[in-house]
Amino acid sequence: MNKKMLVISVAAAFIVSAFAAMSVYSQEDVESVRDSAFGVRMRDKVAFMHDEHNEKAGIDDCTECHHVYDEEGVKLEDESSEDRECSECHMAGGKDKMDLMRAYHLNCKGCHEEQKAGPVMCAECHEKG
Ligand code: HEC
Ligand code: HEC
Ligand code: HEC
Ligand code: HEC
Repeated sequence: MNKKMLVISVAAAFIVSAFAAMSVYSQEDVESVRDSAFGVRMRDKVAFMHDEHNEKAGIDDCTECHHVYDEEGVKLEDESSEDRECSECHMAGGKDKMDLMRAYHLNCKGCHEEQKAGPVMCAECHEKG
């Protein structure tokens, strides 16, 4: 390989890896819930291994969490809001951080209580570290 070829291939490798780093970040990489709307938090962060959690819990339907409702409050079964944070809706129209917190707790803890599986104590979800 001559010098010019080497420069070109090194540059190409850089570009390829830059694109890879941009595109691979998806729900598989989610390890905790960090809704940007909270800002400074009172509690420790909530561990949530997205794909692993949903596999273990046997949840196939993304809209169990990433839901969309129509104006009458009817859940739209084939629409997903996976491209939006919960806060985009649960803090809209005058709702505050407490409403957002309640939405998370009702969704997460609500299901754990209902299914008698998964953590329900504060420190089991809000882990140190
Ligand atoms: C048990 C609830 C739950 C289920 C079921 C669920 N998700 Fe999520 N998902 C979340 C939460 C909570 C976040 C936000 C994590 C954060 O705050 O960064 C998230 C984040 C995401 C993100 C954004 C990742 C990023 O770039 O930050 C995508 C995409 C996503 N989920 C897709 C899916 C798909 C596809 C399914 C169905 C196969 C699914 N989710 C099922 C709770 C769920
Ligand atoms: C596109 C807007 C939107 C997004 C994004 C969204 N929600 Fe909702 N959610 C709604 C609407 C609308 C309702 C029905 C009216 C209400 O109860 O506020 C609802 C209802 C709920 C309820 C009450 C339903 C019940 O079981 O009684 C919970 C809990 C909830 N959402 C949690 C979440 C969580 C957690 C996320 C993020 C993973 C999320 N929502 C994302 C719009 C949204
Ligand atoms: C529709 C039901 C359902 C919802 C919604 C749900 N979970 Fe779970 N979760 C489960 C079940 C079932 C288990 C027990 C899985 C097992 O170990 O068998 C579980 C287990 C867990 C565990 C234990 C460790 C693990 O990953 O198995 C954590 C932590 C957890 N859930 C956090 C959350 C958080 C945070 C949310 C909300 C963003 C959430 N869960 C929403 C059903 C649910
Ligand atoms: C099933 C899991 C789960 C349990 C149990 C739970 N939480 Fe949470 N909580 C969450 C999730 C998920 C969020 C959103 C976290 C984020 O985006 O940073 C949250 C957010 C919060 C927030 C707002 C963010 C902050 O840190 O200021 C507070 C306060 C909070 N929880 C307190 C509590 C308290 C107190 C308990 C016990 C009574 C509790 N939580 C139990 C999952 C849980």
